[in-house]
Amino acid sequence: MKFNPNEYKLRNIAIWNEVAPRYHKRWASVSRGPFQSTSELIHLLEIKKGDRIFDLACGTGVVTKKINQKVGNSGYVIGADTSITAIKTAKKWIGSKLNLDFVIMDAENCYFAKPFDVITCQYALFFFPNAQNALKNIRKNLNKNGKLGISVHGVSKKVPFFSSILDVVTEFIPDYIPPGSPNLDRFGTKTALRNEVKKAGFEKIKVKNFVFKFNPGTFENYWKNYLRYVAKPLKEKLNSLDRQKRVKLKNAVRENVKSYILNDKTMEFPWEVLILTAKK
Ligand SMILES: C[S@@+](CC[C@H](N)C(=O)[O-])C[C@H]1O[C@@H](n2cnc3c(N)ncnc32)[C@H](O)[C@@H]1O
Repeated sequence: MKFNPNEYKLRNIAIWNEVAPRYHKRWASVSRGPFQSTSELIHLLEIKKGDRIFDLACGTGVVTKKINQKVGNSGYVIGADTSITAIKTAKKWIGSKLNLDFVIMDAENCYFAKPFDVITCQYALFFFPNAQNALKNIRKNLNKNGKLGISVHGVSKKVPFFSSILDVVTEFIPDYIPPGSPNLDRFGTKTALRNEVKKAGFEKIKVKNFVFKFNPGTFENYWKNYLRYVAKPLKEKLNSLDRQKRVKLKNAVRENVKSYILNDKTMEFPWEVLILTAKK
């Protein structure tokens, strides 16, 4: 089946509209595990009072909120996302401010009348089917000395929290991820991320890797929460398996995560994150 980027984007919008409140509760509103990246991203970009900043694919506002505090009253921040539910959640969480706006906008089609000092994009570049278009757009929307900051997850084997389940699930349900979908870890190495950003014309590119730790509780907590927080279409596919297959699947996941179980029976996953900074 030929990949259709518009259908993919519409599916993502539906997924994020459904998942955003749960994503906010579990991940974005608590700076645990990979979300320790938010402070690192802000630190590496040297954001200062008075900066004018665009947070692309802002989701429920975790980066937006922190940079809004950092730029102070003389600065300005705008967050954009394609999910209305994510933006509503962000607005409610942060509250209304004179120097903060949110818009519904697609990363590959964003245009502003006035350029920005900094553009941030955390955990989203890999969702854009044409990441080059998005990056070229970002570049156009930066002022002469403007800076870009991107966070992405490492390749799947460096993020076992996801891969320990996904590797098994895709064996049991081959179309779990719709065939032809862009690979979500395609920018998960320093070289791949750097090359994509360089191709869009950016300079002075630096990529740093971080390995954060994430403790999801016991194996039972990890498994139960995966099922609770996963997007509806994926949950439906998992529910379509018969009981015997579900037991087999769960046991295969348990086998995959053995090395991350600590003496007290809780689990600790390493979680690689890459943070890139660049100049226009
Ligand atoms: C993993 S969340 C990251 C959100 C936020 N940056 C954070 O750090 O929590 C990915 C976000 O990308 C958004 N997204 C996906 N495709 C997009 C696109 N083409 N244009 C704009 N936003 C998009 C989703 O709606 C979702 O809110």
